[in-house]
Amino acid sequence: MKADRLAYEALELYVWEGKHDIADRVARFMAPFGVEVIRAGGIDFLPPEPRLKPSVAVISVSVIDQGNFTALDWEGAQGMPVIWVAQPQRNVDPGRYPPEYAHILQHDFTGADLQAQLRKLLPDLNAPAPEKPQNDLVAASPAMRDLLESVDTFADCDSSVMLYGETGVGKERIARLFHERNRTYGTGPFVGVNCGAIPDGLFESLFFGHAKGAFTGAQFAHRGYFEQATGGTLFLDEIGDLPLYQQVKLLRVIEEMALTRLGATVPVKLDFRLVAATNKDLRGAVAEGKFRADLYFRLAVIELQIPTLEERGAEEKVALMQSFMRGVMGETEYAALPPMPDWLHGAIGSAYFAGNVRELRNLAERLSILVRQAGTWDARRMRPLFNHLRPDSFEPAPRSLAVSPASAERQRIIAALDANSWRRQDTAASLGISRKVLWEKMRKFQIADAESDVRELE
Ligand SMILES: Nc1ncnc2c1ncn2[C@@H]1O[C@H](COP(=O)(O)OP(=O)(O)OP(=O)(O)O)[C@@H](O)[C@H]1O
Ligand SMILES: [Mg+2]
Repeated sequence: MKADRLAYEALELYVWEGKHDIADRVARFMAPFGVEVIRAGGIDFLPPEPRLKPSVAVISVSVIDQGNFTALDWEGAQGMPVIWVAQPQRNVDPGRYPPEYAHILQHDFTGADLQAQLRKLLPDLNAPAPEKPQNDLVAASPAMRDLLESVDTFADCDSSVMLYGETGVGKERIARLFHERNRTYGTGPFVGVNCGAIPDGLFESLFFGHAKGAFTGAQFAHRGYFEQATGGTLFLDEIGDLPLYQQVKLLRVIEEMALTRLGATVPVKLDFRLVAATNKDLRGAVAEGKFRADLYFRLAVIELQIPTLEERGAEEKVALMQSFMRGVMGETEYAALPPMPDWLHGAIGSAYFAGNVRELRNLAERLSILVRQAGTWDARRMRPLFNHLRPDSFEPAPRSLAVSPASAERQRIIAALDANSWRRQDTAASLGISRKVLWEKMRKFQIADAESDVRELE
């Protein structure tokens, strides 16, 4: 919840409701985000000055009808942008509500309508809503237990962390763990930034913040991501996608741990823990001149690779599936089901999830719907969901990774084959995958087949 609130927590909404009770609805819609909603009594209510937070007014058009002023007058007088609430089909007088000022909501607006208007007014509210974990962290496999051990070792210090991992392996989830398990910064905010999605020209404003009036439209002073993260963790997601010219700016701030907001004169001191993540080969990018070496060394003091689902093995896939299904259906409903049958265990264990945990979670949702409808594990309807979960049915995006999971996996398979005298059945069992998956992997990684075939005949 805390993370959800971040985007909006710095906001106050003043509601002038006129004849209609819009204040209750505004309050209800915004409550989950921790936005402060203040009911402005009558038409002459004046918000307190100076205001400590950015504010937006939500005003019923019927209020302004009582006075003789325009939307512009109102904004000028209150010093805050306005979202007008009008009856459907009402003709809004363009003289009084100039289109560039008029953010108009229909009277039957929904929470989403309101949020859309707020986002237009405050670009910084555009931060993507963080995904809320709805399940316990699953770490049953040796690969994940090793990872969690490393998290425990390194969480409670202030060195920067770089997390590598394929799509959907849980980079953000692990980043949060680093945050929560840090005694200094864990009680502060967790600010996640997707470095691959910063609109051109907005980097400065988003990261550095700005003073009131720094540019047209800067109605209030605004704290950038760096400042928002103070006392907590700044999570730089998809850091490998940050263009070079933005890398320079990032580096400077990290080195100085201070910044000056746009249009301001006094520098602000910063203090946060840095965690970054990428599915790219950062060292490779450095070698190619696409990522600054100095920034890389600042960010990657501690480097961790998050294993793919394949590397975690069948038992972990099943454990994750059960955890997600309990999350989707609720503990009671899930517990009332007959135990998961063996065929389904097998199907989950040997399914190949190119999208890793995220894709497995999607399957959990589909299976939950089916099992709810049928009241039981319906093989006929469930089996087809596994049809496309094969390694050959997905063309992975071309990539090369620093600690390439593919080559790591190849080595791991060869080691397991060696340990089991190249007997496939035993090797597959020791890896927690099916024989078929092992065979597919050997083919995929071009692991010498002739040799294994000979040994297997023995
Ligand atoms: N070990 C785990 N146990 C339980 N749930 C997990 C685990 N790892 C990841 N998840 C869940 O899987 C989903 C995807 O995880 P997350 O968003 O952290 O992955 P990611 O690597 O950041 O993905 P992307 O590459 O798409 O950014 C989330 O819902 C997360 O809570
Ligand atoms: Mg992510």
